[in-house]
Amino acid sequence: MKKRVLITNSIPPVAYQTLRSKYSVTWNKSQLTESQLQKVVKPYHALLTTLADPITSRVLEAGSNLQCVANYAVGFNNIDIQAAKTKGVWVTNTPDVLTEATADIAWALLLACARRLPEGERMVRTGKFKGWHPLMLLGLDLKGKTLGLYGFGRIGQAVARRGRGWDLQVLYHQRHRVSRKLERELNARFVPFDELNNKSDFISVHTPLTSETRYRFRAKEFKRMKRSCIFINTARGLIHREKDLVTALKGHWIHSAGLDVYEAEPKVNSALLGLPNCTLLPHLGSATFETRNKMALLTAQNIDRVLSGIKPRTPVFNF
Ligand code: GLV
Ligand code: GLV
Repeated sequence: MKKRVLITNSIPPVAYQTLRSKYSVTWNKSQLTESQLQKVVKPYHALLTTLADPITSRVLEAGSNLQCVANYAVGFNNIDIQAAKTKGVWVTNTPDVLTEATADIAWALLLACARRLPEGERMVRTGKFKGWHPLMLLGLDLKGKTLGLYGFGRIGQAVARRGRGWDLQVLYHQRHRVSRKLERELNARFVPFDELNNKSDFISVHTPLTSETRYRFRAKEFKRMKRSCIFINTARGLIHREKDLVTALKGHWIHSAGLDVYEAEPKVNSALLGLPNCTLLPHLGSATFETRNKMALLTAQNIDRVLSGIKPRTPVFNF
C-alpha cells in the first residue's frame, strides 16, 4: 500500500509531480478550516500545509497516521510545534529558498513609503495629476541613513546586504550577536532594542512570531521612534500591535509604514485602509514564480524523505 499525502491547497504543480509516483496524493484546492482538517486528516501519513492551515493539537491528535507536516512557508506559527514533537511528527519549513524574494518585498515597501509611491499612483489613476509641482508628494532620501533590523537571520541579512547600495548604516537587534566578520561585511552593529527604535531611520521586522516577539512593537515603541521613521513588517502581523500602529500613523509619531502582514489575516484593520501614510500589500513576501516553485519542491522533498525514513532537509526541530 502506498503511503498517503494530502496537499491542502493550490500550490505549484511540481510538488504533486514529485510525489505522485511513489505516494497516493490527494490534492485539495481550497482553504480548509481547523475542523475540516480535523475531519479529513486521519488516513494521511503526511500533510503539505500552508501558513493559513491551523495545524493545532486537535488536528494532530486526529492524524493518527501522521509522520510529517511540511509547511509551505518559512514561518510555522500555524503549527502546534510542541504537540507535533510529543507525537513524534516531523515539522518542516522552507527557509533559504524565499530569503531573496522576501528581502525584495521589504525593500519594495521601504521605497514605496519613502517616495510615497501608492499616493502618486492613486493620483495618476484618479485623474488628479495636474502637472509637475515643486512641492508635490515630497518624500525622504535613503542614501546614508540608518536601517534598523529587528531580526538578523537570513532574511534580515539579505535586507542589510541590499542596503549597501544606498550606503546605509545597519543596526540590528535579536537574541544573539552574529560574528564580527559578518557585522563588518554588512556594516551592521548590534544594539539594544530601545536603541534600535531611537536611532533608526527605517525599521524592518524579520523575526519569527513567538511568545517573545508577539506585540513587540506597541505604542511605547512607536513613540520612541523618530518622527521621520519608516516602519516595515514583512514577517508576521502579530509582531506589531495594529491598533497602536494606527495611532502612531494618525498622530504622525512616525513617517509611514509598509505592511505585508496583518494581525488577523486576511482581515485588515479598517483604519489602516483610510490612512495615506501606509503601503499595504496582501502577504506577497515569497510570491514570485521562481521562489514558489522552489518552496513547492522543497516541501515535497521533505515529505518524501520522511516517508522514506530519512531525516528531512529542513526540519524545524530535531528528534
Ligand atoms: C511567509 O510568510 C512565510 O512564512 O513563508
Ligand atoms: C527566517 O527564517 C529567516 O530566514 O530570516
